[in-house]
Amino acid sequence: MTAGRVAGKRVLVTGGASGLGAAIVRRLAGEGARVFVADIDGERGTALAVDTGGRFLELDVTDEAAWIATIAAIEQDAGGLDGLVNNAAIINSRHGLDIETIAIDDLHRLFAVNVDGTVLGCKHAIPLLAHSGGGSIVNMSSIAALLPAGFLISYSASKATVMHITRSVALHCAEKGHAIRCNTVHPGNILTPMLRDMIARTAVDAGMTYDAMAALNLSRIPLGKFQEESDIAHAVLYLISDEARYITGSKLVIDGGMTLSN
Ligand SMILES: NC(=O)c1ccc[n+]([C@@H]2O[C@H](COP(=O)([O-])OP(=O)(O)OC[C@H]3O[C@@H](n4cnc5c(N)ncnc54)[C@H](O)[C@@H]3O)[C@@H](O)[C@H]2O)c1
Repeated sequence: MTAGRVAGKRVLVTGGASGLGAAIVRRLAGEGARVFVADIDGERGTALAVDTGGRFLELDVTDEAAWIATIAAIEQDAGGLDGLVNNAAIINSRHGLDIETIAIDDLHRLFAVNVDGTVLGCKHAIPLLAHSGGGSIVNMSSIAALLPAGFLISYSASKATVMHITRSVALHCAEKGHAIRCNTVHPGNILTPMLRDMIARTAVDAGMTYDAMAALNLSRIPLGKFQEESDIAHAVLYLISDEARYITGSKLVIDGGMTLSN
């Protein structure tokens, strides 16, 4: 039998091919889980799945039919599901980022991935999680859900919505007696492709260099350094594991103190 804090658990991670998702996949697999990597990026997702002894499943989280097929594939392959990490998200807009320059189609595009993707994931995974004896759902939110930012209106709203949906899902599952926990994780600033893109974008908008904008971001972190991807992966591992068996509807904020003084 495999050893580890999540030994034998079958876990699906969306947006698992890159950034935080990839770190989460590695951490869970390192602790004995069989991890299904779901992403629109087939090349990186497949390489990671091969490397971690899991399986890649191509999934656009906005596509309900694809969710149904993904859950069916997992049931057929692994016989059940013990954990879901709704991590896939986008941040950038084609038009402006604030309320005066926002384009409604950008808002809808962000909500389609960040909110619809999370709702569809919960909706279609819950029956299989319940059938498997219960489990844990982790929805990736952000400190943007807790701190309003004038320049990130669509993203912040989508992540606040994810936070609220999570609490409803947690309550629903408890009331139904499903033994399924549902929590959010709220990262601060990690230099993944997503954050690098956002720093580059906001630097251009502010007429600053990338390095100056990165330094400004850093100055807002009380602990004085950017987080590592592993900081988030450790937290997700904990929430997926049975060590967190009494935690549901909670917000785990991992931000180096960024939300303390705001
Ligand atoms: N990086 C940060 O500082 C930070 C801070 C707070 C929250 N977060 C959150 O953490 C999560 C991961 O972010 P990241 O920085 O690793 O981003 P990333 O851009 O590096 O990775 C996102 C992954 O999601 C995938 N993806 C995008 N759209 C998809 C879709 N429609 N269907 C399936 N997969 C899709 C991408 O292919 C990619 O592999 C996101 O939910 C993000 O909002 C990140």
